[in-house]
Amino acid sequence: MPAGGFSVSAPSGVEFEAKITPIVIISCIMAATGGLMFGYDVGISGGVTSMDDFLGKFFPAVLRKKQEDKESNYCKYDNQGLQLFTSSLYLAGLTATFFASYTTRRLGRRLTMLVAGVFFLVGVIFNGAAQDLAMLIVGRILLGCGVGFANQAVPLFLSEIAPTRIRGGLNILFQLNVTIGILFANLVNYGTSKIHPWGWRLSLSLAGIPAVLLTLGALFVTDTPNSLIERGRLEEGKAVLKKIRGTDNVEPEFNEIVEASRVAQEVKHPFRNLLQRRNRPQLVIAVLLQIFQQFTGINAIMFYAPVLFNTLGFKSDASLYSAVITGAVNVLSTLVSVYSVDRVGRRMLLLEAGVQMFLSQVAIAVVLGIKVTDHSDNLGHGWAIAVVVMVCTFVSSFAWSWGPLGWLIPSETFPLETRSAGQSVTVCVNLLFTFVIAQAFLSMLCHLKYAIFVFFSAWVLVMSLFVLFFLPETKNVPIEEMTERVWKQHWFWKRYMDDDHHHIVNGKITANNGASV
Ligand code: BGC
Repeated sequence: MPAGGFSVSAPSGVEFEAKITPIVIISCIMAATGGLMFGYDVGISGGVTSMDDFLGKFFPAVLRKKQEDKESNYCKYDNQGLQLFTSSLYLAGLTATFFASYTTRRLGRRLTMLVAGVFFLVGVIFNGAAQDLAMLIVGRILLGCGVGFANQAVPLFLSEIAPTRIRGGLNILFQLNVTIGILFANLVNYGTSKIHPWGWRLSLSLAGIPAVLLTLGALFVTDTPNSLIERGRLEEGKAVLKKIRGTDNVEPEFNEIVEASRVAQEVKHPFRNLLQRRNRPQLVIAVLLQIFQQFTGINAIMFYAPVLFNTLGFKSDASLYSAVITGAVNVLSTLVSVYSVDRVGRRMLLLEAGVQMFLSQVAIAVVLGIKVTDHSDNLGHGWAIAVVVMVCTFVSSFAWSWGPLGWLIPSETFPLETRSAGQSVTVCVNLLFTFVIAQAFLSMLCHLKYAIFVFFSAWVLVMSLFVLFFLPETKNVPIEEMTERVWKQHWFWKRYMDDDHHHIVNGKITANNGASV
């Protein structure tokens, strides 16, 4: 048996006893502030890069081009250096995830969050005090490392600590914080854009608030039982389990985690293990979900909304204002997901959103195609409102589907043995494609013009078909039982589950052929 393994399932999938205790809710709220920082970083760059004071100091060439007004509307901001300011963060983040995989396993979920908090704090100092482009980029790189560590640890923490029946909702607190972070950043930019010449400095420095929140949060929460047990701290793990579940009757869940962690111990090379055939479904799904999430085109809007609206002829103020509106829609629509993900399920949300995203993107492309020429002055009031409404329609559907589920599904489907490595690949692919969009969008806008939205809508079609045929429902399935209850039952993925691999049924370890071992 290659690197051997046991998958574990509770007796016929009975739900474990678990109360929804205040400590679980508070821990999740604290941990989820890791998302706040990520969101703030996503949201802040667009507004800052549309501020003339900032451009004048760091990117004078872009400012000149913008002011000359000779350039095509679609190409005003097409500058690799400017895009690097936005994208360097993601490049650093994806590199950091590999270290984060190690720390989440060896030091635990909690300490990894603390490491993230410290990176964030130092990064904020560099950015807020930046005197030249180099300091600015170093700051962004440090923030990126923070994102790499936080996005690795936080979703795992949430999925592991949550009782099964509200796992989706609690996990989405991460994404809810991401969206609050983006909105907060948009609001800050709206205010600071009026402060000359150092408003941008304030924008970058206020990232200190989420950084402090995450650092404090990480100091106060307890680690997850899964992580404690994985590191051999069985008694502590059991005590935490009793505390967070609000009951002394935790034996079945405890045993399940102990079994899962025994399997995890046998794995010497987590990344190599991830490539084994029986881990293929989770790996393929995690990787594709991240690529798809970014190719919805969401970050074209999140990073560059002010720039985009500016391109469409909105005045600077109106651009930032519209970015605030889309940011608010993003937060509110995420709440829909918190409420419905454990009720209607993951697939339903993704499929509905697919239709809504497709239609709104096609509509945006049509309006821009007809109305925005290279040198037109502006869109006209009515059309401008129509575009903002369509952007909001798109953002809302993303916010209750691909936004949260891109993070939720990978964090809940990998077995403990590959969970850290799997999550690190997830974050890495996410940041890689976030980087691609951040680096390429303004150039793509310049070359493809309105057709950029046709490009994204084609991707939406592809991803929706993928969900329809290949994404199993994971709602209400205990986290250490996915292999038995999800993958082995799926019409396509079950073919990857046929190696000689043992599992526990009704407390007995059996081989796949049902024989006791
Ligand atoms: C994505 C980010 C995106 C955000 C928007 C997240 O799930 O990973 O890239 O900016 O959603 O709300």
